[in-house]
Amino acid sequence: MTEQLQYQSGFHNHFSTEALPGALPIGQNSPQKCAYGLYAEQLTGSAFTAPRHQNFRSWLYRIRPSVVQSAYQPLENNSVHTAPLDKPAADPNQMRWDPVSLPSEPTDFIDGLFTIAVNGDAGTQAGVGVHVYTFNQDMTQRFFYNADGELLFVPQMGAIRLRTEFGDIEIDNGEIAVIPRGVKFQVCRAQGAEAARGYICENYGSPLELPGLGPIGSNGLANPRDFQSPVAAYEDLEGDYRLVAKFSGRFWESKLDHSPLDVVAWHGNCAPYKYNLANFNTINTVSFDHPDPSIFTVLSSPSDTPGMANLDFVIFPPRWMVAENTFRPPWFHRNLMSEFMGLIHGEYDAKAEGFTPGGASLHNSMSPHGPDAETFEKASNAELKPHFIGDTLAFMFESRYFFHPTPAALNADFRQRDYVDVWSTLRSHFNPSQP
Ligand SMILES: [Fe+2]
Repeated sequence: MTEQLQYQSGFHNHFSTEALPGALPIGQNSPQKCAYGLYAEQLTGSAFTAPRHQNFRSWLYRIRPSVVQSAYQPLENNSVHTAPLDKPAADPNQMRWDPVSLPSEPTDFIDGLFTIAVNGDAGTQAGVGVHVYTFNQDMTQRFFYNADGELLFVPQMGAIRLRTEFGDIEIDNGEIAVIPRGVKFQVCRAQGAEAARGYICENYGSPLELPGLGPIGSNGLANPRDFQSPVAAYEDLEGDYRLVAKFSGRFWESKLDHSPLDVVAWHGNCAPYKYNLANFNTINTVSFDHPDPSIFTVLSSPSDTPGMANLDFVIFPPRWMVAENTFRPPWFHRNLMSEFMGLIHGEYDAKAEGFTPGGASLHNSMSPHGPDAETFEKASNAELKPHFIGDTLAFMFESRYFFHPTPAALNADFRQRDYVDVWSTLRSHFNPSQP
């Protein structure tokens, strides 16, 4: 897998792409007979009557329609969970985890998924699931799709190739990708990686979109032209394959006698996409004070309450810090929104140690958090000259709904049970006679 992949640029553009000349009908979606004997099939990523800017659908021209499969049978899976949990247990305690270990046994992407926390209710299309993936085997005989939500991939270690119905995408540390609900795909290692690890946000809600820019104006944050969708690519393979589906919180399996990656051409605005976080045009204070993290929003899934996201995907990228007369890291805070954080590489400026690449933290609604004692002392006494934070890339999955950690994540041996102690040495500096 060394060939250079081709992409089309733009965010939810109405793309047109064909792997064989003339495979794509011109001027209509479903001609009486498609070129090359292909079948036409529509995939919708939104309700038919969704507002135009949130209306997503694509037409796929494929060798066999997706209905050519056996009946679904339940497939056992004990490591992936979906909201609501059987015994929901949102917990106000601040939590932190070390990176999950790489598998010692041969493990593919599906078997290497592990749920940390969930919120909302997948059945009502509200909330998210937060998972980590680790794997050391490519998916070869089985394919996967998720009916419960779209999947936001955040690789932390090892490049991966997402082989999808729409074409192939490769992402490495520092890049993200989104696979829309229902799209069939495989996950493989790429660029010589022996194993891979990363985070996934399973978005049960409205598809991720670019945040409004308000007074920022027409440029900045993630620019639409930097999003990339694959060009059409197909394989015409017969054999003994499995299609694994995640549907209503359970896994199901269907037999296929062919590869479902048989889409020869497609057009539409519902397609997988990737984005390099290095293209994020970071906007920050150039005077004083620490802005709210919403200034770093890459993508947002709105809920039915304006301004209260089902999911905000926020990054803390390399950037200049220039604020004067300011405690530059985040101050102590208690927020309505619940925050799951991860670290892609480098160091996060609000924590001295314990929050490592591949690790995670959870601060639920109204649970206090902020810089640890060491960071507080350092930032309170730092010389405030312009400073570039170069080696850092943290992110946040922020949601209006309480996160419920799974029992397995609560009981995991890689959970840091003493996390709250990072603040225990913050002492009173109060002196009423010294303003
Ligand atoms: Fe926070």
